[in-house]
Amino acid sequence: MKLAVIGSAGQVGQEFSKLVDADQLVLLTRDQIEIADPASVEACVAKTDAEVIVNLAAFHDVNGCEDDAHKAFQVNALGAFYVAQSAAKHGRKVVFFSSDYVFGQETSRDTPYLEQDQVGPLSVYGASKVAGEQLVAIAATDHLVIRASSLFGVATSKKGWTFPEMIMQRAQSGQPLKVVNDQYMSPTYTNDLVATVLSLIKANATGTVHVSNAEGCTWYEFARETLKLAGIDYDIEPVGSDVFPSKASRPSYSRLDSQRLAGFDVPAPRHWREGLQAYLVEKGVMKN
Ligand SMILES: NC(=O)c1ccc[n+]([C@@H]2O[C@H](COP(=O)([O-])OP(=O)(O)OC[C@H]3O[C@@H](n4cnc5c(N)ncnc54)[C@H](OP(=O)(O)O)[C@@H]3O)[C@@H](O)[C@H]2O)c1
Repeated sequence: MKLAVIGSAGQVGQEFSKLVDADQLVLLTRDQIEIADPASVEACVAKTDAEVIVNLAAFHDVNGCEDDAHKAFQVNALGAFYVAQSAAKHGRKVVFFSSDYVFGQETSRDTPYLEQDQVGPLSVYGASKVAGEQLVAIAATDHLVIRASSLFGVATSKKGWTFPEMIMQRAQSGQPLKVVNDQYMSPTYTNDLVATVLSLIKANATGTVHVSNAEGCTWYEFARETLKLAGIDYDIEPVGSDVFPSKASRPSYSRLDSQRLAGFDVPAPRHWREGLQAYLVEKGVMKN
C-alpha cells in the first residue's frame, strides 16, 4: 500500500523512510505542500497515487502556540481539515497525528487515558489538536487519528535533539541537570510508534487509537534511566515544574493506554524502558 507522508522531513517522518520501501512512499515536505493553504493541499493530494495520506505536519512548539493561537489553529486544526477533506474527495484514507496534550484538565488523574476518555486540554496546542481531531473526523469517514506522546528517536526535528540525547550531552559536558519530576507521561520510541501505525494501516483501522510505549514515568525518571543505560554516572536533581515557568500549562499526568489496538490484532508497543534501550543501541551508545 502506497503512503504519502506530509511532514516527511521531521522526527516521525524520517522513521517512515526507514520502515517502508521507497517505492511505496511519497515523501512530501514544505516545498511541495503547505497544509494551511487548501489550494496547495488539494493540488498535492490530487496528483499523488498514494492510497493513504499521513499528515505529520504540525505547529507543536507548545509555548509558541500560546503566543500565536491563530497559527496553532490554522496549522493543527484547519490544516488537518484541508488534508482530510482532499483525502476524502480523492478516495484516500487519512492518518492524522494528535497528542497526549488533548488531556490534562483532570488534575487528579492517575490512571492511563484510554481512547474513549473525555478530552480536556490545558494549552492552546492541546486545544488545536482536539479541534484537528474533530475536523478530520467530520471531513473524512476513512480516517485514523493516532494519539502519540513524548517522542524520542534517532531522527530529530528541526531543534536537532530529542530528550534523551539532550540529557546525555548535558551530563557529558558536566552541566548541572535539573529535571521535572511531577509530570508523568509515556515516553515513546518513534521507531515503535511508526511500526505500530503501519500495522494499524495494514489492518485498515479507523477512528482514534492511542500509540505509546507501555507504562510510564516522570521526565526525571526517564532522564535517570537514560544515563543508567548509557553507563553515564551523573547526578540529576529532581525538581517541580515550577522551577521552569512556562507560558503553556502541561498535564501532570498524560500516560496513554490503548483499548483498541488488540481489536485490530496489532500488538501494543513494548515497555518504554525497552524502547529506550533499542534507541540507545540504534544510536550506538549501547551494545545489543
Ligand atoms: N514530538 C513529540 O513529542 C510529539 C508528541 C505527540 C504528538 N506529536 C505529533 O506527531 C506529529 C509529528 O511530530 P514530529 O515530532 O515528527 O514533528 P516535526 O519533527 O516538527 O516534523 C513536522 C514536519 O512537518 C512540517 N510542517 C510543519 N508545518 C507545516 C505546514 N504548515 N505545512 C507543511 N508542512 C509543515 C515541518 O517542516 P518544517 O521543519 O519546515 O517546519 C516538519 O518537517 C505532529 O503532528 C505532532 O504534533 C509529536
